Amino acid sequence: MQIQEVKKENWKELRNLYLTLLSNDPDAFADNYSEIESRTRENWIDSLEKRGKTFVAVDDGKYIAMGRINFYEEIPGVPVLHKLGVLPEYRNRGIARKLIEVRERWAISEGAQKVRLYVMAEKTKTIEFSKKNGYIIVENLKGDVERSNGTWADVVVMEKVL
Ligand SMILES: CC(C)(COP(=O)(O)OP(=O)(O)OC[C@H]1O[C@@H](n2cnc3c(N)ncnc32)[C@H](O)[C@@H]1OP(=O)(O)O)[C@@H](O)C(=O)NCCC(=O)NCCS
Repeated sequence: MQIQEVKKENWKELRNLYLTLLSNDPDAFADNYSEIESRTRENWIDSLEKRGKTFVAVDDGKYIAMGRINFYEEIPGVPVLHKLGVLPEYRNRGIARKLIEVRERWAISEGAQKVRLYVMAEKTKTIEFSKKNGYIIVENLKGDVERSNGTWADVVVMEKVL
């Protein structure tokens, strides 16, 4: 198993992995399956070329896990980690932790002093997992995200000093 950066010519393998992850765990990601499925090659390449990186774990040529990190104009200097997912059959082997570490190293190489992530407040397992990886809760955003049933969910902001 190797961790590598996704190049734009590999957008299709990344798309296939993300769609599989979304179909397995639709509540774990901010994106919606049908919206992601409808994205074009140009959309994928544009998003890979934004100020950030997508890393994948590759086993025998197969994409088995992913994680993205991206800078946003709204929070200069503090990149955000997202889209972390590992295929179910590869979980509990430390792959997610490796994908967190590689993104943190990239953030340091870009001069960042901390990194951030957003987690749905009801995802207690994810919050615990993030705490284990050194993240602390810095803010609770009440009613920040609309669920598919029309209700509003709280989001927790977590950060780690690098
Ligand atoms: C969360 C996830 C990425 C962990 O991947 P992984 O490679 O198994 O993680 P690691 O092997 O590095 O670490 C294992 C830890 O994952 C955590 N974990 C397990 N299931 C989890 C879940 N459903 N949600 C969140 N965290 C979970 C546990 O804290 C576990 O630690 P433990 O062994 O001490 O209990 C993986 O379960 C997954 O893809 N879940 C669906 C997508 C998702 O929830 N993404 C957001 C995560 S921030």
